[in-house]
Amino acid sequence: MWAQGRPLECLALLPQPAAFPFRRHWLFLFFPAMPQPFDAPQDAAPLVELRGVRFGYGARPIFNELSLAVPRGSVTALMGASGGGKTTLLRLIGGQARAQAGQVLVFGQDVGQMNASQLYTMRRRMGMLFQFGALFTDLSVFENVAFPLREHTSLPEELIRDIVLMKLGAVGLRGARRLMPGEVSGGMARRVALARAIALDPELVMYDEPFAGLDPISLHTAARLIRQLNDALGITSIIVSHDVAETFEIADRIAILADGGIIADGTPAEVAASEHPLVRQFIGVEADGPVQFHYPGPTVEQDFGTEGAA
Ligand SMILES: Nc1ncnc2c1ncn2[C@@H]1O[C@H](COP(=O)(O)OP(=O)(O)O)[C@@H](O)[C@H]1O
Ligand SMILES: [Mg+2]
Repeated sequence: MWAQGRPLECLALLPQPAAFPFRRHWLFLFFPAMPQPFDAPQDAAPLVELRGVRFGYGARPIFNELSLAVPRGSVTALMGASGGGKTTLLRLIGGQARAQAGQVLVFGQDVGQMNASQLYTMRRRMGMLFQFGALFTDLSVFENVAFPLREHTSLPEELIRDIVLMKLGAVGLRGARRLMPGEVSGGMARRVALARAIALDPELVMYDEPFAGLDPISLHTAARLIRQLNDALGITSIIVSHDVAETFEIADRIAILADGGIIADGTPAEVAASEHPLVRQFIGVEADGPVQFHYPGPTVEQDFGTEGAA
């Protein structure tokens, strides 16, 4: 069936649960004799590895001797206080920033040693959902998802159409293709952004705060979707999130970033059992802890002139 007639249309017409394994079928369409990657034994090498990374903005240190391994095929969550460097860590992995010491290995290669064309090739294998990543407001839902395909490939229009509809189908929004971003809800817009992030069949997808500003139902949907896309498409996902409950539910590994390094790294159960005070405060076991509620400043007595009063 796949090799005859108009197989891509057949594919686009199939019912599309979120767990539909597009990548496998795509490979099969183009290279019918090729062994399918899902049947291959799992490669033990991490897809992303940071070794002893040091990085700062100007004189301001952000990371000191940071090490982290992201297992292939996993959903790894990066958590930590705002301003701790989570977005910066993703920028190091994407090669938008370079480590000042140590190594950032992605797909087995050192990002710090790459030239512009190697970086471009590497980024072509990654999907990114940026923090506050908005859709292009003057492009339709369809065109938003088509954008990376038009930018990075010279595929014919009918193939772009089929790919876009499949990606939109994967996030449940094939029917919303003609809407403009202003006409969709916040949760739907985030799902369109997910479809855009996976448009080029990336091996690695990085999501920077994909749940920010979502209501609990949309948040749950987006979280499930990230997990399902990861598994169905055989990708590796790194997700920056503040939502402890939902993130602990979907992630295979949790890494907590604080004090310029990873202070806890393990399965959700391992991290939840951590005795580290910052970890305990961060995941909500302790209400107060090393991160103070009050920003350092004058005391109440100094500010309100009650010093010395009874
Ligand atoms: N381009 C930049 N130049 C200078 N400082 C920056 C830049 N980007 C981020 N920072 C600072 O580095 C710190 C870490 O930022 P960021 O990685 O965005 O943290 P997070 O994503 O964990 O909130 C913050 O204090 C931020 O103000
Ligand atoms: Mg950030």
